Amino acid sequence: MADRTALHVGIDLGTSTSSLAHVRSDGNPEIVPNSDGERLTPSVVFFDRYEGIKLVGSAAKDGGDPDRTVRHIKKKMDDPAFFVEIDGEKWTPTEISALILAKLRKDCSKLIGQIDDVVITVPANFNELARKATVTAGRLAGLSVKRIVNEPTAAALYYAHTQSVQGRVLVYDLGGGTLDITILDIDRDNVDILLSEGARHLGGSDFDEILIDLIGEKFREQNGKDLILDEHQRRRLLAAAEDTKKRLSKLNVVSEKIGSEDFGLAEVELSRDSFEEAIRRLLTRTVMLVEQALDNLGLQPNEIDHVVLVGGSTRIPKVQELLTNQFGRPPISCGNVDECVALGAALFAQRARRVSEVCNHSYGTLALIEDAVTREASVQNSIVIPKNTPIPCSMSQTYMTSEDNEELIEVEITQGEDLDPRYVDIIGKISLRVPPGRPAGCQVTVTYSYDENQRVRAQVYDEESGLRKDISIEYKGDGVLPDEEIERKSAYLKKVKIA
Ligand SMILES: Nc1ncnc2c1ncn2[C@@H]1O[C@H](COP(=O)(O)OP(=O)(O)OP(=O)(O)O)[C@@H](O)[C@H]1O
Ligand SMILES: [Mg+2]
Repeated sequence: MADRTALHVGIDLGTSTSSLAHVRSDGNPEIVPNSDGERLTPSVVFFDRYEGIKLVGSAAKDGGDPDRTVRHIKKKMDDPAFFVEIDGEKWTPTEISALILAKLRKDCSKLIGQIDDVVITVPANFNELARKATVTAGRLAGLSVKRIVNEPTAAALYYAHTQSVQGRVLVYDLGGGTLDITILDIDRDNVDILLSEGARHLGGSDFDEILIDLIGEKFREQNGKDLILDEHQRRRLLAAAEDTKKRLSKLNVVSEKIGSEDFGLAEVELSRDSFEEAIRRLLTRTVMLVEQALDNLGLQPNEIDHVVLVGGSTRIPKVQELLTNQFGRPPISCGNVDECVALGAALFAQRARRVSEVCNHSYGTLALIEDAVTREASVQNSIVIPKNTPIPCSMSQTYMTSEDNEELIEVEITQGEDLDPRYVDIIGKISLRVPPGRPAGCQVTVTYSYDENQRVRAQVYDEESGLRKDISIEYKGDGVLPDEEIERKSAYLKKVKIA
């Protein structure tokens, strides 16, 4: 019996669309279409009332009741408290994402075979919790998740592979929900990430919301009536608005027949200029984020060899125009801007490339810090590893105990850039018991290390006693499920009918 070649796939679990790719025997990646014959599967789930079927993809998107339709769940992956309740059952963002992944897995196994393992991509600025939630979603869907890779890294691999893009590259990824800007060096198939910046809630779905308001406004101007009467109607109009937006990337003026339950269809005319004007504030923010990314590395635009486009929203002509102005030459587009992340992830899954990344967040500890002027002490986030430090890395900071007779040294491990403890996440804690009767001012060294898999280890070392304690941070915050719970839920999801 011939050995079946192992099937490693890459999955882009996107805010608006998801896709799956594998590498053919000739070494080139290709998208595996879903069972509906589509290369991109809308990341939309519809909860059917009659047979309990969970529709995923276009059928869900075009499907009926907006109250039974879940979209853009990726935006909630870092929110452990969020759930949707349908027919009395609660679904977390992880479980909804698992339904999307299960559809991709099922369809792939019908077309090319059982998946052995998978690389799933996430935005570079996804935090620890959202990364963990993504791995869990994969496991719930019955997938063996080999690695999580940042979306721009995967896209860069694809550009390097297919377009021979080499040198210092800026990846501009404007998708459905997020903007990621990554500056990296590509040397053949090796990728060194220099920096990642981004905005979590800036993407095509925000443009859709703005366009809906614009359509409503034009409708009132042109027909003298209100189009959007309630939230329900607004959600129904979203799909139509997205289609209009895509047409406006090709046409200067579009005329849409838009319906309202109260007065049938009416016509509304929209120009590309008016749309681009309406989203100008958001586009300006993207330009500023690019400037900031360059600034942070002390680079001028002409020191970037290539600007490459990723994400469906980069098809908006204004986006390309702004980048052309900023860099003095047009960005490179591979055309399939919404597929290149999955294609790059497949390359990564097939044969691990050397990819050196940077940490996506700062890591620190809470410490009592005295203001140099007022001499008032307050608890602040003291950063040990700053964001964008190349990984793997290990960094230390020394602190002093603040009280006499301190017997328990507690180090709270933070993730986040802000100095104010209210705006950072506490992702772990180490407690070290030290001998009694010591004065304040004993030195304690905190060392954090960060490995290739974005895992953080922390060590606290008490200089005087020589005692130390070392922990690996398993993010066990709210919303992170223990193994047994994953097994149980995975068994349950196996029985759910997904189409
Ligand atoms: N021709 C077009 N003109 C304008 N926008 C477009 C066009 N084609 C696709 N889009 C938009 O691109 C977005 C989807 O892009 P993509 O599939 O790259 O995002 P995603 O991967 O789902 O999101 P993210 O990467 O933020 O998680 C949607 O908002 C879609 O409306
Ligand atoms: Mg994407």
